[in-house]
Parts: sequence; C-alpha cells; structure tokens
Amino acid sequence: MRSIRLKKISKSLGGGQVLNKINLTIPSGEFFALLGPSGCGKTTLLRLIAGFEKPDSGIIYLGNSEITDLPVHKRRINIVFQNYALFPHLNVFNNVAYSLQIQKCAKEEVEQRVIKILKAFHLENHIFKFPAQLSGGQQQRVALARAIINEPEVLLLDEPLAALDFKLREKVLLELIELQDKLKTTFVYVTHDQFEALTVADQMAIMNHDGEIEQIGTPKEIYEFPISSFVAKFVGSTNLFTGRLSNFDTNPEIEIPHLGKFNVYIPEQRPWIYSGCSAAMSIRPEKILISKSPQENFSNTLKGVVSQIVYHGRSTQYNVIVNNQFEFQVFEQNEEHFAQEEIDYDDEVYLFWQRENTQLFES
Ligand SMILES: Nc1ncnc2c1ncn2[C@@H]1O[C@H](COP(=O)(O)OP(=O)(O)OP(=O)(O)O)[C@@H](O)[C@H]1O
Ligand SMILES: [Mg+2]
Repeated sequence: MRSIRLKKISKSLGGGQVLNKINLTIPSGEFFALLGPSGCGKTTLLRLIAGFEKPDSGIIYLGNSEITDLPVHKRRINIVFQNYALFPHLNVFNNVAYSLQIQKCAKEEVEQRVIKILKAFHLENHIFKFPAQLSGGQQQRVALARAIINEPEVLLLDEPLAALDFKLREKVLLELIELQDKLKTTFVYVTHDQFEALTVADQMAIMNHDGEIEQIGTPKEIYEFPISSFVAKFVGSTNLFTGRLSNFDTNPEIEIPHLGKFNVYIPEQRPWIYSGCSAAMSIRPEKILISKSPQENFSNTLKGVVSQIVYHGRSTQYNVIVNNQFEFQVFEQNEEHFAQEEIDYDDEVYLFWQRENTQLFES
C-alpha cells in the first residue's frame, strides 16, 4: 500500500480559486478524515485524487509514482459519493460483483469475494434484491461494498453516511472501521460531522474557506491543541474572547475589555505571541466548572447569571451571561441522578477554569 501525497495543488472552478496550494500527505493504511465548511473544496480535492479533475498546478503522488495525469481507471482509487447511484437493473450481488466481472475474474472467485464482503456489511439476506427494494442504509452499504470489492489501494468516501439516521450511521461507521482495520486500505473520509471525524480518524485535516489546509493532526491534537480560532470553533465548541497579553515573564495574563484579567498558558513555539500583543483566548465549555458557591484552587473565576439550560442526557449545557454582555457556554457531565446543587435559570453562578486549559490564538 502506498501513501498519497499532494504537492502545492491548486484548482480554480467557475472563475474562483477553490484549492490553494494544498500540501497534504495521507499515510498508507490510515483512516484519514477531511473536514471543512461547506464549499471549501473537499469534494473537489477528492475528485482530483480520483482523477475526475486535473489540478491547475501541483503534483499528486501515489507512493513514488506521479499520478497527476493518470486516467481514472488506471488508478487503484475508488470513490463513494454521498448518494451513490447503484445500477437499478442489477441485484445486490451483481452490483457488487460488477467490477470483478469486467475484470473477467473466475466465477467461483467472484462469488466467494462478493459473499464475503456482503457478510461484512450485513447484507447477506438481501443478495437477490434490487436497489429499489432496499432501504437507504442498505443501498449505501451496497455502494460501499461495491467500492471496496476490487481492493483499491485508496478509498475516497465523500460523506458516505450523510443520508442515514444517527443510529444507522453509527452502525455502518463501525462496520467501515472494522473493515478498514482488516484490509488496511487507505480511507479518505469527508464528513461534516466533527464528532464522527474525531471518533473514526487516525488523523484529520481541517480545510478553511480559502481552500487551504489549516491544520493536520490526530483527533486529540486537533481538539486539544487547535492552532487557530477557526479550528477551535470548527471542531467542537469554544468560548472565545479577544484581549491584550501582559505580564509575560512572571504571570502571563490576558486583559479582556469589560470582562477582566485572566491567567493564561503560554505555549512554546508560538512566535507571534509577545507581551502587549492582542490575542484571542479560548476555553472549551467542558473545561469550565460551574457552581453556585465559591471554590478554591482555580486560576480563574468569574461571576455570571444563567440564561439558558439545555439538557443533553449525558451532559447539561449552561449559558451564562457575564457583565450583561459576555456569553459563556459550559458543559457539565451528568454524573449523578440528583445533582448536589440544582442550578436554575437566573441563578447567580461562579465559573472556574485553570490556566492550563486556556488557549491563545492570533487575533
Ligand atoms: N463544476 C464546477 N463549476 C464551478 N464551480 C464549482 C464546480 N464544482 C464546485 N465548484 C465550486 O467550488 C467550491 C468547492 O466545491 P466543493 O464541492 O469542492 O465543496 P465541498 O467542500 O465539497 O462542499 P460541501 O461540504 O458542501 O459538499 C464551491 O464554491 C463550488 O461552488
Ligand atoms: Mg462536497
């Protein structure tokens, strides 16, 4: 199996620059997620890798071979679209067997391989049905089976589960992860769903509105150490406030106008940060503790009023207004049946967080 490497890939469509000097390496055998806002160029990027489009400039490698100008059918790269059209006149078996049949595989081998893959996707009871007789989830599984049957080196998946409901999505996703683990095919998985990406990916890349890769990393790196406020906002939710840094050498702080001064953590390797510079402070909602009574041992404390409570089952979200103008979002795990202190609308509450849980971004 070989890695995919994109070197300075640019592409314009309809007079607009869609992809802007994309550099990206997708290691072989990885479950790689590609995430970004609608219209940022994810599908375009997949189409370039698959060979349906050519870049205006830049090079695409599969392993050490350049494939930039290689026709689609000569790349061992398959793609599954959001609403993959199956052949309506072929039953499940023949839809999946199609690529093996045109390769003139022996009949017994075709049968063996098709049955095996249909079992992996729990489709063995639907072998002789036609697409119109299948549910959306079953059709999408047939599409996945069909894309993987001829053992591509790379499988590109463009929001393959978007049409499925939550439970089914989870189920098919687990099947996909299992299969990927077994086959070691490189998966490039485009999704809108950040939680899906965080769950499945070995690594993920975040694209921005300018058709650039903003950050590449493991899900944990992306979530815990986003490199920009764009990434912090796009993956998960966060509380972001802009201010000015001071007291750099002894006890770094950020002063946020009309909100106060807060202790912050200054990471290494952030050359743009200096005393007096303006910056955005980010704190994830689950890193903030909410309580009606004061607490000790926190680097930062604020007082506010609860404006909204949303019960999510495993957690509760509180929106808290501070100084009549700043809204904080706080997530709290619902660990107990009966919380020790019941927090209600309009309650006065304290918010606490540690300096290590803050992040600074260029603003
Ligand atoms: N054939 C085309 N002609 C002109 N513009 C196009 C064409 N295909 C895509 N675009 C434009 O290129 C940009 C990127 O489109 P693309 O489909 O790659 O986005 P995306 O990230 O996949 O979005 P989504 O998440 O909504 O699927 C969009 O602004 C789109 O309008
Ligand atoms: Mg798309």
